[in-house]
Amino acid sequence: MDIKTMNAQDIACVIEDNKNGPSDELLAAAAQTRDKYYGREIFVRGLIEFTNYCKNGCYYCGIRAQNKNAHRYRLTETEIMECVDQGHRLGFRTFVLQGGEDKYFTDERICGIIYAVKSKYPECAVTLSIGEKTKESYRAYRDAGADRYLLRHETADEAHYAKLHPQSMSLENRKKCLYTLRELGYQVGAGFMVGSPYQTSRELASDLLFLKDLKPHMVGIGPFIPHSMTPFAHESGGSVALTLTMLALTRLMLPKTLIPSTTALGTADAMGREKGFAAGANVVMPNLSPVSVRADYSLYDNKICTGDEAAQCIVCLKNRIERAGYEMNMGRGDSLMD
Ligand code: 5AD
Ligand code: FES
Repeated sequence: MDIKTMNAQDIACVIEDNKNGPSDELLAAAAQTRDKYYGREIFVRGLIEFTNYCKNGCYYCGIRAQNKNAHRYRLTETEIMECVDQGHRLGFRTFVLQGGEDKYFTDERICGIIYAVKSKYPECAVTLSIGEKTKESYRAYRDAGADRYLLRHETADEAHYAKLHPQSMSLENRKKCLYTLRELGYQVGAGFMVGSPYQTSRELASDLLFLKDLKPHMVGIGPFIPHSMTPFAHESGGSVALTLTMLALTRLMLPKTLIPSTTALGTADAMGREKGFAAGANVVMPNLSPVSVRADYSLYDNKICTGDEAAQCIVCLKNRIERAGYEMNMGRGDSLMD
């Protein structure tokens, strides 16, 4: 079986065959592929969730604009810099600045933050995750020093995309953003949720084919977890087993890409992170945001935000990684994808 040469229908069959979890064969192939290119190293990035204001209304997301119950916050530039300073002292050399699509953070402000981090810590990589912007904005961030950009495509199927998002959003623009980011020289991260409402193996197959075409440097995959204050409050969540299958197939489709073992996976299963590594993942993104705002960045219910996934407890994380049979790497951890 070579996933790289399969058509959509055959890929959907493989997904179907492994919907209760990756077979031993699939798991072994994925882990071997990861080991071949990246060895047993798990790369860590410090995640700073700097604003939970968002103008969008994605039906699955707890910080959607329509959720009037969300307690909104914005970090000041000083607070963001304090998170970075603390992260740097802890040994982090990659910072992910993530936020909702928040008008307050104009290009000028974003560029100022990027520039501040990069001039103080030129050896560090700065990753942005702030949604859909114009090419001019993406270029401005790049010129200010941003190295990477995470923008999950969420689903590569048009009809499915329309069931998860309001009409104001389109898969076409999402994809356009991703190709633009690539063209501007960013290391790009795409990704999707597993088990989102209306998703079948067919949609998941199109996600893999889209990734094959985009060739992103990183792919974020996590189970859908319902949030009580969203239109999908009563939908069922995605399964950890199927998420592991999708991690493994993604590893085989794009051997050199970086694959995080996501917070959502760690939330859905206490050993989710370790299971993700066993399925070919090799990145974790512990939280560097101030403890006071962490609970407010609630994309889904019961999101873990204390304990091992908190960046402050880097020793616990290191122990956990080592106990699972890997080594922690706090360096920039650039992707091997071209
Ligand atoms: N469950 C799981 N993942 C979610 N995200 C947003 N809402 C949820 C949810 N309810 C993911 C989206 C987004 C990323 C930041 O978090 O894929 O791109
Ligand atoms: Fe779109 Fe949060 S509103 S991911």
